[in-house]
Amino acid sequence: MKNKTSIQGSWASRWIFILAATGSAVGLGNIWKFPYITGENGGGAFVLVYLACILLVGIPIMMAEVFIGRRARKNPINALTDVAEESEGIKAWGIIGIMGMLSGVLIFSFYSVVGGWVLHYIKIMVTGEMMGISSEDAGAAFSALLGEPITLLGWHTLFSIMTVFVVAAGINKGIETATRIMMPALFVLLFILLGYAMTTGGFTQGWNFMFEFDFSKLTWNSALVALGHSFFTLSLGMGTIMAYGSYMTKDASIGKTVLAIGALDTLVALVAGLAIFPIIFSNGMNPGAGPGLMFISLPVAFGQMPFGQLFGILFFVLIGVAAWTSAISLLEPTVAFLVERFKMKRINAAIALGVVVWGLGIACLGSFNFMSDVTFFGKNTFDFLDYITANIMLPLGGILIALFAGWIVKDKFAQDELQLPAGIYTLWNFSMKFTAPIAVAIVLYFLINPMK
Ligand code: PFF
Ligand code: NA
Repeated sequence: MKNKTSIQGSWASRWIFILAATGSAVGLGNIWKFPYITGENGGGAFVLVYLACILLVGIPIMMAEVFIGRRARKNPINALTDVAEESEGIKAWGIIGIMGMLSGVLIFSFYSVVGGWVLHYIKIMVTGEMMGISSEDAGAAFSALLGEPITLLGWHTLFSIMTVFVVAAGINKGIETATRIMMPALFVLLFILLGYAMTTGGFTQGWNFMFEFDFSKLTWNSALVALGHSFFTLSLGMGTIMAYGSYMTKDASIGKTVLAIGALDTLVALVAGLAIFPIIFSNGMNPGAGPGLMFISLPVAFGQMPFGQLFGILFFVLIGVAAWTSAISLLEPTVAFLVERFKMKRINAAIALGVVVWGLGIACLGSFNFMSDVTFFGKNTFDFLDYITANIMLPLGGILIALFAGWIVKDKFAQDELQLPAGIYTLWNFSMKFTAPIAVAIVLYFLINPMK
């Protein structure tokens, strides 16, 4: 293909690509969602299925996304059509990119609301108003927050503006600078917290909860949640990694790079779990508390531990940073598309998209108060969007990307980008053609037709 670089620019080095993609991957999915869905799904066996999904489905699909993006050097829609044409496939494959943009917009709308909760918790950690609070009062404080649309709107608006600001600045000045500073800080903070968790009495119990495999607790629905989460956590199935891949330099090895990103994301999720569960157990709290797990239990724990206020501030800043770098990546594919297809200025594209997702976010934050009566299939707007994006749209996007990479793209073009040793290439290709699509299909099938 002719165009050597994207019109958006390119990452300064392979290392920056790893940082940026890791910034996208590591987010609320790792620190908020992974621990609470692990708690809801009974721990160990769920974690094992999740790890298998990352390794067998997630990593190979991430390689496909990166190479498609890098080959075409365009936004996901145009990248898919270009790569399809080169292999004499039909242009309609670009539809995956359109569905991906939609997923990004829908995910952003609830992601930003949770990002807003995090900002609020940074504030109350700083003021110290939750220090020494009981678990009942912490629960009441969280519920009270959910019942205040104006407060939620303020934080959601701030989070949206922060995100649009970085996206508008472009991939070098914006995303790259943010990531360079924020990612290393995030790792340091997480390990400090893990160190604290090890000193609490609950570490063994937390460890066992996560790594003792009790398969009696596993259901098809929890397998679906594990699979869907493996897409969500790696930012797959919606073109984000494809867009980031289009800014990747040609000399970097896709295989090694993707392995590093997958390993870092998994590491952060496991460390987050190992930091959170011991705190939960040593304070006699319930691991299955749901989405409020982090927001109710942790302030209680921080209120009791030495230097709790300091750790509490650090912890919520850490999550805020992680959420921010992920939110940026939710908007990037669509902004790239608007710039390339309609020749919009990046700043205008970012603001226009920002207004749309901000508006949708209002429906999500309203789920807890003025719009709590509005339900879809028995779920409020917030839960519904979380459910259909993570559990349906991303796996579906992932299946299609795998089928496209495995059956449509010619081996010589795929190998030209991937440059894998022959044996590894065969494995990867087998995963694209069979393992990944079949795994996703089975889980989706049993979700729709549950086994009794
Ligand atoms: N991977 C992010 C997380 O784990 O929080 C969420 C996410 C970001 C999903 C970007 C999808 C995406 F395109
Ligand atoms: Na993640």
